[in-house]
Amino acid sequence: MSEPGPVPTSGRADGRAFATRAVHAGWEPLSEPTGAVMPPVYLTSTYAQDAPARPRRGFEYTRTQNPTRFALQDALAELEGGAAAFACASGMAAVHTLMLTLAPGDRVVAGRDLYGGSHRLFDRLEQRFGLVFEYRDTTAPDAFADLPADTRLVYVETPSNPTLGITPLAEAAAAAHRVGAELAVDNTFATPALQRPFDHGADYVLHSTTKYVGGHSDVVGGALVVRDPARAEDLWFHQNTAGTSSSPFDSFLTLRGLRTLAVRMERHCRNAAALAEFLAGHPGVDRVLYPGLPSHPGHAVAREQMLAFGGMISFELPGGLAQAEALVAACDLFTLAESLGGVESLIELPAPMTHASVPPEKRLEIGIPDGLVRLSVGIEDPDDLRRDLEQALAACGAG
Ligand SMILES: Cc1ncc(COP(=O)(O)O)c(C=O)c1O
Repeated sequence: MSEPGPVPTSGRADGRAFATRAVHAGWEPLSEPTGAVMPPVYLTSTYAQDAPARPRRGFEYTRTQNPTRFALQDALAELEGGAAAFACASGMAAVHTLMLTLAPGDRVVAGRDLYGGSHRLFDRLEQRFGLVFEYRDTTAPDAFADLPADTRLVYVETPSNPTLGITPLAEAAAAAHRVGAELAVDNTFATPALQRPFDHGADYVLHSTTKYVGGHSDVVGGALVVRDPARAEDLWFHQNTAGTSSSPFDSFLTLRGLRTLAVRMERHCRNAAALAEFLAGHPGVDRVLYPGLPSHPGHAVAREQMLAFGGMISFELPGGLAQAEALVAACDLFTLAESLGGVESLIELPAPMTHASVPPEKRLEIGIPDGLVRLSVGIEDPDDLRRDLEQALAACGAG
């Protein structure tokens, strides 16, 4: 198979508001022969050619090019304000695609509070190919003061999973650029509805689109968005060569979810803010982590770089793991499950669940005690959510 052709780029900056662009980005009905208002699911693995190596419409093979995936990619690039986006089979596939662009000996300075699967990918897989990972508390005031000269990539998650740590993006970007490195930001928790890392100098934006972008807990996917058009060709080469691309049907579902991102995020944020306040005022709750609370150490930075504070909350109970287990068992509306960002509210314990792959001593250092509880606050009625937490807290003896 020949090399991929031109990289699909977004290129539309029509001055319209985010909510409008989220509904229309990446698709022009009249670009398709039938005028389909929504992108068809192009369920084909290959495309007809007029003569050897002369594909009729420039499309050869779906791992390389697929119109449904291109529609999603264009939409994501436009909404993040990047030059191009690459929709991947999962969030981890997107992170791996970015790591494939590095060479043995390259140093990655990463936030210490990343999603557990990113830690596992870096420490147990990428390291075997000679990449050097150094973890720092990127929320600390002097976090970027002394980046080593061989740093090629600074990799942060903000807000982070599950401690909701806030990394100052402009500072991280400036420090990375000073040593000739680039900044990659996992924007899964905020989404482009709440935070646009390219506006603060980032070079790459990553997503687990499984979460808020897809929004309905019915698809697994990821995205890698790049600011510099000159970098796009290389990323496409790696997406195509390693085969990390998203399937047409998964791309369709993700784009369908993306259409309602703006309205969903409004409700997620409003519900989470109300619940964070309720938990912070509850006598049986020890510590509430939500960037919208003035008590949160990253509150001031979050106010600067986010439009709102998102739908994720973590908190601790005085009774540790046993009490946290009793709490999740008593919840009725909050479903005990991993993942986040869907319309339905979820509850989980990061230590034994999403962050189990992080060694226990490292978890404690990052601020993930065994009894930490994480909520993905859905779009249900806020009073119903509060009542469910209230009865579950009472049932587990909190307060
Ligand atoms: C912040 C963050 N990044 C990346 C990932 C990985 O995404 P996926 O599960 O789609 O591979 C997750 C998954 O929970 C996540 O929370």
